[in-house]
Amino acid sequence: MNREEIIIPETAVVRQRDFQKKIRDMFAARKAHPTACVETFGCQQNVADGQRLMGMLEAMGFTLSEDAGEADLVLLNTCAIREHAEQRVFGNLGILTHSKKENPEQMIVLCGCMAQEERVSKRIRESYRHVDLVFGPQALWRFPELLWQAYETKERVFSVADEPGGIAEGLPVVRERGVKAWVSIMYGCNNFCSYCIVPYVRGRERSRSPEAVLAEVRELVEAGYKDITLLGQNVNSYGNDLETGYRFPDLLEDIDKIPGDYWIRFMSSHPKDASPRLFDTMAKCGHVARQLHLPFQSGNNRVLGEMNRRYTREKYLELIRYARSVMPELVLTSDVIIGFPGETETEAMDTISLVEEVGFDALFTFIYSPRPGTKAAAMPDPVPRAEKQKWFDKLLDVQNRQSAGIHAGYVGKMLRVLVDGESDDGDFPLSSRTEGNRLVRLKGGKELVGQFLDVHVTGSNTWALYGEPV
Ligand code: SAH
Ligand code: SF4
Ligand code: F3S
Repeated sequence: MNREEIIIPETAVVRQRDFQKKIRDMFAARKAHPTACVETFGCQQNVADGQRLMGMLEAMGFTLSEDAGEADLVLLNTCAIREHAEQRVFGNLGILTHSKKENPEQMIVLCGCMAQEERVSKRIRESYRHVDLVFGPQALWRFPELLWQAYETKERVFSVADEPGGIAEGLPVVRERGVKAWVSIMYGCNNFCSYCIVPYVRGRERSRSPEAVLAEVRELVEAGYKDITLLGQNVNSYGNDLETGYRFPDLLEDIDKIPGDYWIRFMSSHPKDASPRLFDTMAKCGHVARQLHLPFQSGNNRVLGEMNRRYTREKYLELIRYARSVMPELVLTSDVIIGFPGETETEAMDTISLVEEVGFDALFTFIYSPRPGTKAAAMPDPVPRAEKQKWFDKLLDVQNRQSAGIHAGYVGKMLRVLVDGESDDGDFPLSSRTEGNRLVRLKGGKELVGQFLDVHVTGSNTWALYGEPV
């Protein structure tokens, strides 16, 4: 696809404002303050999408609310990554039959990655008749139009065609107030890891223009955001489709030139094209946090091959060695899957040995969940769940000990942190993050939120550090 087909014309985006107005006017005649309840599941990319959806809802005149039962509109922005994520959504939909019965005017919207799965949209069509509007991630920018269609026709609307997807700039947004913000720099995924549903539901890889990303980051820094995360399924392939030779390290370098006191992070990185140049750039750019989330998934080369990951254990270790050589203080996290179809105990232990060898600061660990339609879902999977659970528990045990050990090493030291909010711990009422994104619970008053501080670390456990401002 060429660039013109990918960029959604500004006129088409602007036209959505007409639909926003129609809905605003419709409610103005009917009801003073329509409310909308938005629930987002899944990854940060979905959270960022949810913030755009909320922006559009506000532009349509809705006040955002937490009360799904009472809301005039309920929107579930869903995730399809594992079976459990889908079950939660079906559970929520079940509960919504009651509120819909009491208030037949209630508009129920299902969007996000699950909505894009044919199997799911079919099930919604047939068995969840109280859902009024269903659309996938590629249709997100047309939400006002689709919603208007649902209100006007009083018929159910499905927009779930398999589309490669475009890029719509200038959509409204409701951000979390405070210090953290998300910026999608690209959409979609071309990698087709054999276990993963994302390429099927999020369309093809496409990069926003550097100008659009830079303008958004600049705006956020000027608005006082201090912890900005660039998002993409694989940020290392940013720019591949721009055909200008401009790549992710170039983007980092250009962002770094924006003046201000802030940190830039990014996720996720794919080891197959994480490069020494990326690490050199991280090391030399003052605003780029020395933190890396580099999912390795498995420590066994046969399994990595079956997963279609396109790197080896050795290549991964080599990357880590290089990254640490240029950034000795690097905080490193990863994603791991245990129990891929056909994985043997010995192979799972290779994953654990890699974890021991690298010494990650933290891990996101998953037991393999078959996703219908993916290549892995058709592979024989003879190992019982209980057996996989044992390997998984062993992995957790190794990692928890590692995290606790790394954290204990900080006690007595001084760290620079960014206070990002209040916490639920009465003795340490503030939550803060180090440059490496480590959680530090702090003593102090809430007037400190949003500030960079030097703190003295007084305690630790597996998940957090504890400290006091100096
Ligand atoms: N694009 C990111 C990952 C997004 S999904 C990347 O490639 O790094 C987040 C994590 O969910 C993946 O890294 C993987 O560990 C896990 N995951 C994806 N599909 C899964 C499945 N079918 N079962 C279990 N875990 C899965
Ligand atoms: Fe899924 Fe692989 Fe794409 Fe990540 S890179 S979203 S794991 S297919
Ligand atoms: Fe889930 Fe879609 Fe993200 S499947 S993990 S919400 S890209």
